[in-house]
Amino acid sequence: MTTTAVTENGAALALDRVSRAYGGGAPALDGVDLVVPRGRFLAVMGRSGSGKSTLLRCAAGLERPTAGRVRIGGTDLATLRTTGLTRLRRDRIGFVFQSLNLVSALNVRENVTLPLLLAGARESRALDARALAGLDAVGLADRAEDRPESLSGGQRQRVAIARALVNEPEVVFADEPTAALDPVTAAGVLALLRRAVDERGRTVVLVTHDPTAATWADEAVFLDRGRIAGRLDRPDEARVRAVLGGLGTAGVRAALGGLGEAGRQPAVAR
Ligand SMILES: Nc1ncnc2c1ncn2[C@@H]1O[C@H](COP(=O)(O)OP(=O)(O)OP(=O)(O)O)[C@@H](O)[C@H]1O
Ligand SMILES: [Mg+2]
Repeated sequence: MTTTAVTENGAALALDRVSRAYGGGAPALDGVDLVVPRGRFLAVMGRSGSGKSTLLRCAAGLERPTAGRVRIGGTDLATLRTTGLTRLRRDRIGFVFQSLNLVSALNVRENVTLPLLLAGARESRALDARALAGLDAVGLADRAEDRPESLSGGQRQRVAIARALVNEPEVVFADEPTAALDPVTAAGVLALLRRAVDERGRTVVLVTHDPTAATWADEAVFLDRGRIAGRLDRPDEARVRAVLGGLGTAGVRAALGGLGEAGRQPAVAR
């Protein structure tokens, strides 16, 4: 575990034995260890109900784990009260939700400025310019004054990404942002996240079902019934499919092949 300890110092995100239970049943998350260094792109995969969204919500401070510790850039979220947690989410985290949550009463530009306004910025030309630059980066500067309803699913998802990036967050969490998109549009959205990592040093944690989407990441981790069942560096489609196919069975170990025990150690994105 020495590598984990060393990497945790500069980690953008670290989870130590994080569990989350809802009521009496099996926990949605069950002792998850995860370290994501700055400037890395991590894909979180696993079957429906395996705990991916729960992991993201706990990691992003949207939900408190029932056990274990989450740190963002060295800040232990458990030490923060509600207002501190709200401030951290506002200032240091970007989130793209599984179900889109653009505000339909606001136009596209206003949706993108929303995190800045919530962070206390005053409406201004500078603020609008920042939103427009973000929209330009996702190819939607010309739709700034339109309502979200008039955009296609892929365009809305790109607005959601522009909004998640507008605060220059340390970590961007995206929950299946490409699930409803055709392959070409999905690739465009994933390229945006990849660029945020490569050109701006952001850290991205992407939940996805899609083996093609996972190939944009530096590492994939696989959840099975709330536990990390394996991990792949520089995931390629064939290996991702093999691991997904083996989840819940001994096949996952075979699919991870040469990684052997590494698949069950704390996941550290490199
Ligand atoms: N608010 C909640 N109350 C009760 N149970 C919940 C709640 N949220 C999630 N769960 C349960 O926790 C487990 C993990 O759910 P989660 O949403 O994290 O799965 P997921 O991997 O994101 O699935 P999907 O791929 O379908 O989005 C599921 O069994 C789910 O029913
Ligand atoms: Mg989910």
